[in-house]
Amino acid sequence: MISAYFNGKFVEPNESVIPIDERGHQFGDGVYEVIRIYEGKPFMIDEHLERLYQSADAIKLRIDPNRDAFKNSVLEMIERSGLTNLDLYVQVTRGMAPRNHLFPECPVSVSMTAKPFRSIPFGDKGASVLLHPDERWANCYIKSLNLLPNILAKQAAYEEGYLEAILVRDGKVTEGTSSTVYIVKDSSIITTPLSKHILSGITRMAVKNLAEHLSIPFVEKQFTPDEMIQADEVFITSTTLEITPIICVDNNQINDGTPGSVTKALKEQFKQII
Ligand code: PDD
Repeated sequence: MISAYFNGKFVEPNESVIPIDERGHQFGDGVYEVIRIYEGKPFMIDEHLERLYQSADAIKLRIDPNRDAFKNSVLEMIERSGLTNLDLYVQVTRGMAPRNHLFPECPVSVSMTAKPFRSIPFGDKGASVLLHPDERWANCYIKSLNLLPNILAKQAAYEEGYLEAILVRDGKVTEGTSSTVYIVKDSSIITTPLSKHILSGITRMAVKNLAEHLSIPFVEKQFTPDEMIQADEVFITSTTLEITPIICVDNNQINDGTPGSVTKALKEQFKQII
C-alpha cells in the first residue's frame, strides 16, 4: 500500500522527495484540491478537477492538458492507497527551479497524498464558530496554497474552543476558513453569492441540488453577522466536514441550540447521495 505521489512516482508519505528549490515549498506558488472517496467512489471528482484546472488557469499555471491522463493518475493513487474511504489531496505547483519570483521554464510539480478520513466532529450534535475578520486577498475563488490568513483565523477559533472561524469582510459574512456558510431563515437557505471573495464549494453545488430536490428555496445573497446570529439555523459545508450544523456563533446560541429541521433534512439527503 502506497499513499503518496510526486511527479510520476508513487512513494511513502515520509519519503524525502521535494527538493528545496520547489516553488510550492518556497513560495506557496500552486493550487490544490481535497477530494473525498466513499467506498471506493470519488465524490464529484470531475467538479473537483474542473475547479483545479480553473484555479491553475487563474494563476497562469499549466496542468497536463490531457485531462484524462491527469484524472487517471488521481484514480491510480486512490487504487494504490488500498483505502476505500479516504481523502485525497492533490497539489500542483509551478515546479522546481532556483528561487526567483519570475515564472520558471520548467514542468509543473504534481503531488498527492491519500489518507483515511476521520469521523466528522460535531457532525450530528452541532458545532460552535467564531466570527473573525476576513484578512485574505481579493482572489479567494482560487484554491491557492497560500492559506496563512485562513490558518491564523482557524487557530484563533480553535484556541477559544470553536470548530471554525467564519470570515467577515466589509460587514458581510464571506465563508469559513475552509468551509462554505449558510443560514436558514423562514425556511429558505441563504448563502453568499459566488464572487472573487469566496471559493465556489463543490459541496455547495451538491447542497444547491439537494435543496432543489427538497423544494427548499436556495437564495444566493449576502448576510451580516447579526443576521447569522438571528437565523433559524446555521450550517457549514466542505468536502471534509460534509454538512455540519452550527448551534452557536460567537457565544450566541442559534435558535434552541440544536440542529434545525432543514439542516437535518439536507444531511439525510446528502447521506443518500454519498
Ligand atoms: N477546503 N471555502 C474554503 C476557503 C475552503 O478551503 C473550502 C474547502 C470550502 C469548501 O469547499 P468544498 O465543498 O469544495 O470542499 C470553502 C478544503 C476541504 C481544505 O482546504 O481542506
